[in-house]
Amino acid sequence: MTAAHLRATVPQSPAALAGIQLRRFAGPSAFVEQLDHLRIAHLTDLHVGRVTPLRVQHAAVDLTNAQTPDLVVITGDFVCHSTKYLDELTELISRLVAKAPVMCVMGNHDYWSGAEEVRWALRRAGAEILDNANTVFSVRHQRLQVVGLDDAYTGHASRARALAGLRRDLPTIGLSHIAEEADALWRHGVSLVLAGHTHAGQVTVARLHEISIGKIGGHKYVHGMYGSRRQDDPGTGAVYVGAGIGAAVIPFRVGERGKREVTIFELGHQPGSFAEHHDDQDGLPGRKPSPRKQWLRAAAVVRKENARRSRTTLVPPKR
Ligand SMILES: [Fe+2]
Repeated sequence: MTAAHLRATVPQSPAALAGIQLRRFAGPSAFVEQLDHLRIAHLTDLHVGRVTPLRVQHAAVDLTNAQTPDLVVITGDFVCHSTKYLDELTELISRLVAKAPVMCVMGNHDYWSGAEEVRWALRRAGAEILDNANTVFSVRHQRLQVVGLDDAYTGHASRARALAGLRRDLPTIGLSHIAEEADALWRHGVSLVLAGHTHAGQVTVARLHEISIGKIGGHKYVHGMYGSRRQDDPGTGAVYVGAGIGAAVIPFRVGERGKREVTIFELGHQPGSFAEHHDDQDGLPGRKPSPRKQWLRAAAVVRKENARRSRTTLVPPKR
């Protein structure tokens, strides 16, 4: 029997059918002294809406729950372009919360669609939203500090607020939709930052994603693990950019790196102590958005919110 025959006859899991990869990494080496073992599941860019069939996000939840994580973290872009699918989002997140605590931060699409409504759907499911805030998560007599940075793309990130009262004696991870925020967080003892936003470029054959997201888009961190998890040098750290689950415009993904992914971080394990998906990478040169570009991005949120409000008030009252 050939491999093709085997693939045709062996039933595939919903996650495999949806093209979702499970990728596994150790945490920073500094955590080995501080933690026995904590398993974190990272999801990003669920983009619940019309572009990605809902069975894909549910398959990602099934795959996540099957890993029995201690904590699930989600780094923004829960929706696409509207708040029409919030009941579906609540149901999806509720399925994660039923198995493990869920902490999350917002992304640009959440702000474009209606951040307050998205927050409401997430809180209704039982998720904790870290809007420029930090908290300490405890399980099995172990403590992990989690810093959540609100969306930097739309100008809502406040590092000062997110880091206020942060303890330097606890192992700490950061959540940020935009990965480039990691550089500044490392200087405050946030050793590992988990991020999203790029979808790994979705098309990664011939390293096209490093051109589209890196060279053209100006991102230093396009997909996967960057920096160093071996903290010999204070002020440095690592950032992981997840490829995400959904899409906001075009659903297809081409190339191994661009596959949808659920990422597991085994905190308390030494980097290199088990086979990981890829080695730590160096960041690309990157290009910081100009003040004008930052202003235009913030203005887009206000413009979209005004458009939503005017649509609401234009509905004539029923007689
Ligand atoms: Fe996204």
